[in-house]
Amino acid sequence: MSVIREADALPTAELAGRALRHESAHLHVTGRAQYADDIPLPAGTLHAAFGLSRVAHARIRQLDLSAVLAAPGVVAVGLPSDIPGENNYGSVVHDDPIFTDTLVQFAGQPMFAVAANTHLQARRAAVLARVDYDELPAILDVRSALAAQSFVIPSKTLRRGDPQAALVRAPRRMQGTLSIGGQDHFYLEGQIAVAIPQEDGAMLIHSSTQHPTEVQHIVAAALKLRAHDVIVQCRRMGGGFGGKESQPALIAAAAAVLARKTGRPVKLRLDRDVDMLATGKRHDMIADYDVGYDDDGRICALSVMLAARCGYSADLSGPVNDRAICHVDNAYFLEHVEIVSHRCKTHTVSNTAFRGFGGPQGMMVIEAVIDDIARRLQRDPLDVRRANFYGAAPRNITPYGQSVDGNVLDTLSERLLSSSGYRERRAAIAQWNAGSATIKRGIALTPVKFGISFNATHYNQAGALIHIYNDGTVMLNHGGTEMGQGLYTKVAQVVATELGLPLSAIRVTAADTSKVPNTSATAASSGSDLNGKAAQAAAQTLRLRLVEWAATAFDVPAGAIRFDNGVVWLGERALPFAKLVAQAYMARISLSATGYYRTPAIHWDGTALRGRPFFYYAYGAAVSEVAVDTLTGESQLQRVDILHDVGRSLNPALDIGQIEGGFLQGAGWLTTEELWWNARGELKTHAPATYKIPTAYDWPREAHVHLLQQQPNGEDTIYRSKAVGEPPLMLAMSVFHAIRDAVAACAAPGRNVPLQAPATAEAVLAAIEQLRAVETAP
Ligand code: MTE
Ligand code: MOS
Repeated sequence: MSVIREADALPTAELAGRALRHESAHLHVTGRAQYADDIPLPAGTLHAAFGLSRVAHARIRQLDLSAVLAAPGVVAVGLPSDIPGENNYGSVVHDDPIFTDTLVQFAGQPMFAVAANTHLQARRAAVLARVDYDELPAILDVRSALAAQSFVIPSKTLRRGDPQAALVRAPRRMQGTLSIGGQDHFYLEGQIAVAIPQEDGAMLIHSSTQHPTEVQHIVAAALKLRAHDVIVQCRRMGGGFGGKESQPALIAAAAAVLARKTGRPVKLRLDRDVDMLATGKRHDMIADYDVGYDDDGRICALSVMLAARCGYSADLSGPVNDRAICHVDNAYFLEHVEIVSHRCKTHTVSNTAFRGFGGPQGMMVIEAVIDDIARRLQRDPLDVRRANFYGAAPRNITPYGQSVDGNVLDTLSERLLSSSGYRERRAAIAQWNAGSATIKRGIALTPVKFGISFNATHYNQAGALIHIYNDGTVMLNHGGTEMGQGLYTKVAQVVATELGLPLSAIRVTAADTSKVPNTSATAASSGSDLNGKAAQAAAQTLRLRLVEWAATAFDVPAGAIRFDNGVVWLGERALPFAKLVAQAYMARISLSATGYYRTPAIHWDGTALRGRPFFYYAYGAAVSEVAVDTLTGESQLQRVDILHDVGRSLNPALDIGQIEGGFLQGAGWLTTEELWWNARGELKTHAPATYKIPTAYDWPREAHVHLLQQQPNGEDTIYRSKAVGEPPLMLAMSVFHAIRDAVAACAAPGRNVPLQAPATAEAVLAAIEQLRAVETAP
């Protein structure tokens, strides 16, 4: 493994902060990385498939499974009556049936699962059910839900100052609407679980999950077991993106129910279409705003109604929409503000976490408001953005009462402005557009300020478990999960740094509920913040133990003992780490330790929507340039410049990877990824043929992606780094606004661009038509 050889040659003091390759890179690229689907199965394993409802809202009059049971290879079906415990996989509100009983609430809802000898037999059998539905009226979109006052959980309002009075007072005022599309996670590895019955009623689950502990709890509740009867393991996921926070519990519970019923191991792997039909996505939202502003484009007052399509159940919609509320400000000071957030119940799949967790939708609102203001005032949107940036006190307090500390956006955007040549390029684009009737170009710089920590305060804790074996090798386990983001590499770098070891001495093992208990989801970008600190604590405990013993055993002052690159220095004397450890073992020194961490200083009142929910903020900005074909509506991202703040990077290679990947995923969300339901509530975009994620060809020909160099986090995070998982997705707002800029060039200045997200070719054409229609109207 060349990663390790590279690392071994270097002084370990530099291991944290080095651009090392992903710990599994050599396995990823050679196809040897073991995902849940690659785990060798015990003899007799059955394969399962879901039977899905075909209508959006109905009572089930009769479910006839005789043809399913008679199909070749079928061994059993799982129904609600086969669940000894709770028929639920909803973690917050218990309103998500594993198999729905009498009521269907969306087209694609699992009604049963069938277990057969092979995967294909199970899939073929699952579609043979005969269902007699009593159809009910279905509410399918946000506007209909608002009209019917159909909500999954109560609405919330965040208010500061006196927005209504300030709106009236404001020199200028304007209203607008933005619709923001949802997004399918499209992880390369779909949802999957393997349930293997153990002795004495216990159950072992291999799950592709960001949240092993939740899978453990849901499976235990479904099987009427206790937590210690269920073990959940996950070595890695082939992508999660938030889609494997709450959804894997459904897959695991269904497999476990069938495993219990048959007494045999059961694997349930969803194929792509079923995955897209049956599991939740990013919430699409609608925002109606009313803004008051002055001649410089400074916002005096803002009132927003933000409504989200939550689907048929609560799932994580509460915290997702809370985070949306907390990011409507993005980088901007809003003195008088009111945000009303509706959590709409619809007869569609229940939406869930997705990278940014509502934050991106919240930010899209304010960025549209600012763009609209700038168009009206005929000013560069960037100048209006900067005029509204958070500043010195008292212009540094968010609507929810947290002060924006360590704000680097002024300098960061100034630097990006000059490195990208924004001003000159804007002038050049204006010139081009004046001479080009068909192809219009556009450019935009948008900032990101993203709060790091879970809004749910109790989630901000983590544990780790480290063993040192007496040959000097280290086994590292912590509560975080690996989904490709590089968490396991970063935490291994931390432990190697603390113990003065080369990376090759550390093996990272699967997240496992029997090793580290009560873990939080690996989410909210805080994986390395939390687990890095917990592992550091465990490593420091072990180092201290070794130092205390060695000081006596070798008669050197504790202060003269150093750990460096696999060698322990006892004053002048050097001893290989392995030798020292072997001797410590003989002296009966414990070589295993746990570590624990909880984020300090945070607090949150979820009812009043006040507090300090975030330990700190991550910042970034991007400049995107696009070309739009005004005849076809197609757009192309031609260049991007990104400057992003990761504090003191734990691993610049992984961080750049997160920034590039997050940005492109965000660009997909805002341009080509469109979820489309027909009038019957059937999702028609449930495969790559109809749902378009970005490919390598969508990466711009010119890209400059940089870290804001060595700006240590002002808070005491692991080695002063910053979380990087989610924030870069929102850099893609610059792509959307560059397209808006290009569309604006189709009409005389001064008019708002009625472009909705995603900016598909169709949406772009619609916006152009609308703009030109206004223009030619009498
Ligand atoms: N990167 C990859 N390659 N795959 C993923 O699934 N998930 C994102 C982000 N980056 C994801 C990813 C999401 S939604 C989150 S919350 C963070 O990674 C979680 O990991 P972290 O907390 O370790 O950053
Ligand atoms: Mo990420 S949406 O917090 O899993």
